[in-house]
Amino acid sequence: MLSDIFAPVTPQLEMVHRALAASLRLEGITDPTRPVLTYVLGSRGKQLRAALVLIPTLGEKAADSGDRSRRAIQAGTAVELIHLATLLHDDVLDEAGERRGRPTLSVLWGNKNSILAGDYFFARAFGILAEINCPALLNLFTSAIATTCAGEIEEHQDSYNMEISEENYLQRIGKKTASLFAACARAGGLLAGKGREEQAALERFGYNLGIAFQLTDDLLDIIGDPNQLGKPVGQDLLQGVYTLPVLVALAEPATGKRLRRILARGLDRNNLEEIRSLVANSQGREATRQMALEYKTRALRELQALPPGPVRDNLARMAQFVVERIF
Ligand code: FPP
Ligand code: MG
Repeated sequence: MLSDIFAPVTPQLEMVHRALAASLRLEGITDPTRPVLTYVLGSRGKQLRAALVLIPTLGEKAADSGDRSRRAIQAGTAVELIHLATLLHDDVLDEAGERRGRPTLSVLWGNKNSILAGDYFFARAFGILAEINCPALLNLFTSAIATTCAGEIEEHQDSYNMEISEENYLQRIGKKTASLFAACARAGGLLAGKGREEQAALERFGYNLGIAFQLTDDLLDIIGDPNQLGKPVGQDLLQGVYTLPVLVALAEPATGKRLRRILARGLDRNNLEEIRSLVANSQGREATRQMALEYKTRALRELQALPPGPVRDNLARMAQFVVERIF
């Protein structure tokens, strides 16, 4: 299904993949740095964010379409590098042991190397953005990253707080995840030469898609299969990050009481399974699924502002994938 959405931009995503590898073929990257950085690029992610930049440029027939396409590939590469950097930092913050089916860099080489590798890829991303030479694009990504960081700070500050409101949670995931999705979709519109209204609609599409993505991610942390996900489940709970399924379960009379008692006593690897199944069998599961579907519908509604065609169709498919995914 992912290959269906990506089919029209497969060649461009291949170029993104090669450009990511090229970010290591640079001056000063020798042993012992090279194996650390190379490891990070050894497993390919979903490249959803790059696809979100590339898809709005489909069907462009303008005289300068070659140049637009090249810039979209560069922007797609930059956003994948930014995403990679955030994950390298996130795995340190979350003390994560596994990602994309392999041990994390922090497990193999330690937290310091993970942070520094993140900084390296972050710098490479901005090198590419500088080459594109488009201040509006640079602005878009720098402000999305600032918002992402604010979301991460909020998540950290809110950890172990069982009284978080649903609204608060949605704002938080809007910052930490949806802001970058929104910037990607708008960047695609900008590079495709779309008008202001279409760019704004693409940005709102990306935002709603990002919320649907994170809601699904948070649900998969409770009910997902670690083999499919390529990372262990229950990680949010272990870090005291209470996501929507947990917050809804906490509001249920009997389940909430039990859950509160266990969480207050302290969660560890021994009672993690008990909590996970408590949440998985609560109303939190269906409420989160319904909320993800609601945000998918909101995203699809934004696509009405675009003319019918491949951009609209492929973005709609991406929205469907985001809520149906199991990895
Ligand atoms: C994954 O969330 C993480 C994010 C969406 C953002 C992480 C961002 C930072 C750590 C900000 C600082 C980094 C840079 C380079 C600006 P998750 O933990 O819910 O998902 P996961 O289960 O895949 O880890
Ligand atoms: Mg994490």
